Amino acid sequence: MILVTGGTGLVGSHLLYHLLLKNDFVKAIHQNTSDLLTVKKVFAYYTSNVDEHYNRIVWVEAGLTNIPELKMAFKDITYVYHCAAFVSFDPKDYKKMRRINIDGTTNIVNLCILNSIKKLCFASSIATLEKDLNKDYIDESENWDNTKDKSGYAITKYGAEKEVWRASQEGVDMVIVNPGVILGSGYWNKGSSTLFSKVKNGFPFYTEGVTGFVDVIDVVMIMQKLMLSEIKNERFVLVSENISFKELFFQIADALNVKHPTIRVSKLLSEIIWRLDNVKSTIFRSSPMITKISSRSSQLKRIYSAEKIKSVMDVQFIKIDKTILRVCKDLISE
Ligand SMILES: NC(=O)c1ccc[n+]([C@@H]2O[C@H](COP(=O)([O-])OP(=O)(O)OC[C@H]3O[C@@H](n4cnc5c(N)ncnc54)[C@H](OP(=O)(O)O)[C@@H]3O)[C@@H](O)[C@H]2O)c1
Repeated sequence: MILVTGGTGLVGSHLLYHLLLKNDFVKAIHQNTSDLLTVKKVFAYYTSNVDEHYNRIVWVEAGLTNIPELKMAFKDITYVYHCAAFVSFDPKDYKKMRRINIDGTTNIVNLCILNSIKKLCFASSIATLEKDLNKDYIDESENWDNTKDKSGYAITKYGAEKEVWRASQEGVDMVIVNPGVILGSGYWNKGSSTLFSKVKNGFPFYTEGVTGFVDVIDVVMIMQKLMLSEIKNERFVLVSENISFKELFFQIADALNVKHPTIRVSKLLSEIIWRLDNVKSTIFRSSPMITKISSRSSQLKRIYSAEKIKSVMDVQFIKIDKTILRVCKDLISE
């Protein structure tokens, strides 16, 4: 039986649907606060027979940091997709992120070893990748550099990757995917899907920063292909195209038939904005909307290469304009 963590999030919910098309037995963990209804909503983007698929999932309540609960979840499991993580750019969340992303992955890896799991597939991120100064693109090859300024998210995803590499040393085959910003339908109020709802609600700002983007469907299809392949103990960048936030936001606005964002946030302006937001959040004791790291990374121009995955399997990434049209259609239909 297959176990999925993070099944109540963007990647995990789309993965569950695709796994159920080909597999009879799929188990997923959830927390008592998890939003299970949105999993059904995600299934409804694909099929009118939502319940027929959804009711076949064996749900088990288990937190990543709760070892007894996880032990129960691992009963009869042979393959594990580990998609659960806590994603935040608020420095106040760093300790919590370490607990969930690193310690939680330690627990998953230990249980994979204990239960002689056949293969583990881990959803990491391009945030863990380094730029080789001799190349004008970023790929899987460069080693992590501890001396550079990193977000807590990047540090904890890298820590989790190290745990997954440990699994390979202790006899569990594994693969790691490093997706760019994942675009997909559902969960409009959290994570990367908020890019769509923000533009819909008239978000006025854009930057000229460039990064890699990928369709959630490509991410989950490639995860499954990697799991079924002979490939093991490797990591793969998953990026369809590298485009600017300006291009992304303008295309989303066109697809939603709303106004383009009008205010270009320059480097100088973004330095002012995160400082003001920091003062505001200190006074009002609220979470900052924009942090130093998130504002600086939105200005970076980073090009990612997905040549490695293309060299080992037949992959044709969905073009980002197609993804945007499909996702915006789903958002409009809400
Ligand atoms: N979205 C992106 O653009 C992107 C890009 C690159 C990599 N990734 C990686 O891809 C993975 C999935 O991302 P996503 O966008 O699907 O994230 P998401 O929508 O925020 O979902 C996160 C999932 O993790 C679960 N989770 C969080 N803390 C947990 C805990 N303590 N115990 C058990 N489950 C817990 C959540 O459960 P609840 O529903 O209970 O909160 C949810 O199911 C993550 O590892 C992320 O780092 C995402």
